[in-house]
Amino acid sequence: MSAEQSLEEVAVPQEGYDFVVVSNRLPVDRDVDENGSSSWRRSPGGLVSALAPVMAQRDGAWVGWHGAPDESLEPFDHDVFHLVPVSLSETEVKRYYEGFSNATLWPLYHDVIASPEFHRTWWYAYRRVNERFARTAAETAAEGATVWVQDYQLQLVPRMLRRLRPDVTIGFFNHIPFPPTEIFSQLPWRRAVLEGLTGADLIGFQRPGDAQNFQRCVRRYLGVQFTKGAAQFSESTAEGGQTTWTVNAGSYPISIDVDSIKELADDPSVRARAREIREELGNPETIFLGVDRLDYTKGIRHRIKAYGELLHDGRLTVEDSVLIQVASPSRERVDSYRHLRELVEGMVGRINGQYDTISHTAIRYLHHGYPFEEMVALYLAADVMLVTALRDGMNLVAKEYVAARRDRSGALVLSEFTGAAEQLKQAVLVNPHDIDGLKDAMMYARDMPATEARKRMASMRRQVLTHDVVDWSQRFLDDLAAHARTAPDDAAGPGAAADGPGHE
Ligand code: G6P
Repeated sequence: MSAEQSLEEVAVPQEGYDFVVVSNRLPVDRDVDENGSSSWRRSPGGLVSALAPVMAQRDGAWVGWHGAPDESLEPFDHDVFHLVPVSLSETEVKRYYEGFSNATLWPLYHDVIASPEFHRTWWYAYRRVNERFARTAAETAAEGATVWVQDYQLQLVPRMLRRLRPDVTIGFFNHIPFPPTEIFSQLPWRRAVLEGLTGADLIGFQRPGDAQNFQRCVRRYLGVQFTKGAAQFSESTAEGGQTTWTVNAGSYPISIDVDSIKELADDPSVRARAREIREELGNPETIFLGVDRLDYTKGIRHRIKAYGELLHDGRLTVEDSVLIQVASPSRERVDSYRHLRELVEGMVGRINGQYDTISHTAIRYLHHGYPFEEMVALYLAADVMLVTALRDGMNLVAKEYVAARRDRSGALVLSEFTGAAEQLKQAVLVNPHDIDGLKDAMMYARDMPATEARKRMASMRRQVLTHDVVDWSQRFLDDLAAHARTAPDDAAGPGAAADGPGHE
């Protein structure tokens, strides 16, 4: 019997919440001032703004880690959120977060761009920490509550939670890609991960292709067939009975908080800042912009290489154009991220050393995070936005750029390996591995006639403006509620097998 199977039901708490979100990070960041006193601030990002109104309306709670090791915090309230912190020891941060989440699953789920590392100690920590999150959620949810678990760090939580609290409705959303069977197979704990996920009533993915990959993996390793996106699962209970439920899996492409970007894009001070950025750069004809976490999935090296070659070929000069690359620090203690930073900074240094003049620089490389107003000012200043990810679940920067361009000017160069490419079909689509193709696409985006640029941007804006992150969360939660009301026998198609041994 595995560790998870020994989980026993926990009592329904007396004062539980009807809606509970569970994610690795809480939706708040801690600020510490010069005097050492700390305060909380709502984290930026679409997920947090999408769920804030749902939290307020449904009296919800959010379970997550507050970001510091070896510190236990009592539940507390901040703006609309009831926050329930989960503590992690320093070793768990190393093994569960930096290790299994970000050096095993992250590269495995992103086309093995970096080599995933498989360590049993990391897996044990991942399982233990997932159990802690599941238990905290079980102790927080009211009778019959809806619990929505987020992302790859917590894939075991759905099944653990179902065992602890069979009365709750469980949703899971995977923000990153789900890999094809051939790659997922490398994971030594592949069956346990699939068992974990299939504890949910509804599992959402970014692209239809991700949902298909998942369904194929379940068929291969758990021997369960999905029909029309639904399959039936069952397992024995501690009392010797049998419990059966239906799992639905489908695509729910995430989006952004369009209103807040539109508001900032109209704000006179943000617009003035955009003009100031251009002036400070010496009024170049073209500003190219890249905005990413410093992550090897983002194709930052490919973009810089292409830019350097365009300077070398004389198709661009430092007088007429500049590349601004914002690379916000991320997962800095993970080896592959450290290595990437060295490579990127080496490339930027070499290109700037070769092409800079006293008055002009080739690449403005900024290794910082910025407030959102500054990001929107950059979006307004940029003529060509470069999103060249080698693999990306969605890529919200692409959608943010589009939402900010209210005058319909500007061009988006977008990797076909992002989830966003399935929705923003009027972008200049590229294969970032093809450096010549990328260079041509960058030049095409720069030289595109204004009428064509406006037509493309107008079409992309229609897509983004009509599918914002509030629609995304509503669609997921409506479907989750509808599926939870459907009896298992009605929901699964005729071909849906129940449990059964995996094909290992
Ligand atoms: C991606 C993941 C998120 C994660 C974020 C930042 O968007 O899908 O789950 O929170 O990166 O990464 P971090 O490791 O800093 O939380």
